[in-house]
Amino acid sequence: MNTADERKPGSWQCAFGKVILFGEHAVVYGVEAIAGGIAAAVRARIVPADNPRISVSIPAWGLHFNKGDDAPEGVLFEPLLDYLLAELAIPAGGFSLELAPEIPHASGLGASAAVAVSTIRALSAWRELNLDPSTVNQLAFGCEKIAHGSPSGLDNTLATFGGMQRYRRTSSGATFAPLNYATPIPLIVALSGKKGFTAATVKRVTEARARQPALYDDIFGEIAAISAKAIAALEVGDLETIAQLMNLNQAQLQRLGVSCAEIEDVIALARRAGAPGAKLTGSGDGGAVIIAPGDHQSAIIATLRTAGYDCFTITLGQP
Ligand code: PMV
Repeated sequence: MNTADERKPGSWQCAFGKVILFGEHAVVYGVEAIAGGIAAAVRARIVPADNPRISVSIPAWGLHFNKGDDAPEGVLFEPLLDYLLAELAIPAGGFSLELAPEIPHASGLGASAAVAVSTIRALSAWRELNLDPSTVNQLAFGCEKIAHGSPSGLDNTLATFGGMQRYRRTSSGATFAPLNYATPIPLIVALSGKKGFTAATVKRVTEARARQPALYDDIFGEIAAISAKAIAALEVGDLETIAQLMNLNQAQLQRLGVSCAEIEDVIALARRAGAPGAKLTGSGDGGAVIIAPGDHQSAIIATLRTAGYDCFTITLGQP
């Protein structure tokens, strides 16, 4: 029986964002990907309200709306909330959902999965449902399917568990395990300024593969080999090799047709400023670029900011 006092606000609940170091897109077709969580990327809480509808407020993204209003492009709250409220048997009204993201949306950093996971945890905390992490992950996968059609499940897994993970989608489900890494991985994350829309880009790759299966399977084979080499390099903390493998992965992402002029500009600027490696992260066609800084972090950041690109640093695998 539910004994929660539903007039009291729920506590703030966190979810991880993520960067994919190696293997985006190929992971949808069974290639092992490597990804790292970005801690406390999105926080959410439930506040009871007299409003018979559900209001959603995300000040950091300038979004305030009631469930049922037209939500902005790329923000699929209506079907997502319907799904979660039905699954969790929570009445659809009388509360607000407040979200405090630290990452931008539509930029390949896993914001949609982090919104789903933090929302599920917020609902669970408010109604004292005590959902375990595996149930949270499953529900978030349901949300990702609504948002993206055929997701690999990597985003919701990282949003739930964080850490550094090896992730593979198989015909019988997903396998993932913490990666053995010898040293944390410092990265610069730069925003290309163009929004990337996962569902559309993943669909484009699926359609292109249907037209040219041999070519696309060749690309996925190359990416699988890069991922395997990266796992070995991460195990011994070989940052130089990791940076080179990022460049090789980017070349394959270009062949897949998911890079764009803005991403290429960021990468060219970073390399000119001394970056030993750079690639897009996430679905691409906009969104974020990850850059291995080598010994040139300050110069790369200064160059990118001068050119008008937002950037920040993260360290994957830091406790
Ligand atoms: O753009 P994002 O952050 O949603 O990442 C998508 C990653 C893909 O590999 C392109 C798709 C997937 O479902 O894994």
